[in-house]
Amino acid sequence: MKGIVLAGGSGTRLSPLTLVTNKHLLPVYDEPMIFKPLKMLVNIGITEIQMVIGGNGVGDIVKICGSGSSMGARLSYVHQDRPGGIAEALKLTKDFSAGEPVVVILGDNIFENDISPYLEIFEKDIDTCRLFLTESEEPHRFGVAELAPDGSVIGIEEKPKQPKSNKVVTGLYFYPADIYDVIDWVQKNVGYSGRNELEITDVNNYYVRNKRCKAHVLDGFWSDAGTFPTLLRSANFIAQKKQTK
Ligand code: TTP
Repeated sequence: MKGIVLAGGSGTRLSPLTLVTNKHLLPVYDEPMIFKPLKMLVNIGITEIQMVIGGNGVGDIVKICGSGSSMGARLSYVHQDRPGGIAEALKLTKDFSAGEPVVVILGDNIFENDISPYLEIFEKDIDTCRLFLTESEEPHRFGVAELAPDGSVIGIEEKPKQPKSNKVVTGLYFYPADIYDVIDWVQKNVGYSGRNELEITDVNNYYVRNKRCKAHVLDGFWSDAGTFPTLLRSANFIAQKKQTK
């Protein structure tokens, strides 16, 4: 299985820091943010990884992650020229994926759960996209999943004013090999959103509509680290974890 880390974007919510460096280089306690998703993939045996990079200071991402060998990975890079959204960033990795299913993680996401059991399930059912949900007190900030009583996904709404649940879509996605066709379909038929991004929620809703989407609710810590409060929360979580070890 190949892995993809998406570390483009502009990180405006961490300005002024991101005026001079890349969001993914900022420390989450004792490591640059980007090490967390990278190591998470390596820890579940995904070592062939492409990273999409963009924004300020991309050279320093390459400098600190290098070939990936120090972490046991084989890393390649592709540049996203403008922050056109998560789905647009993912589209850039088509050649790398070479027609195989992919595991995708956002470069600013911090997870506690061991996701290897889900990877085993995915490997047995590679035509179904898998999303990972968590309960949030601020669902309006994220993609919000509406679930049926049996746990299946009815639909996902991006940053709704009136969320239909408190279950939000985290930045970890398992996609079947046709993901790049689906992104093309979304680009052609849905297009860019009001914030001029190709939305991953539109991609996920394609799989939902076609009954090819399963969601798992994670019980461990999860946070993005893309705002000052969540960067602090993530750092505190890592610090606490290290202390209890
Ligand atoms: P966001 O936090 O949604 O966007 P951002 O990183 O540009 O930050 P801000 O909203 O403060 O300007 O992105 C979450 C992750 O998705 C981010 O860590 C990197 C990835 N991403 C891309 O790779 N390309 C993109 O065009 C965008 C928008 C995000």
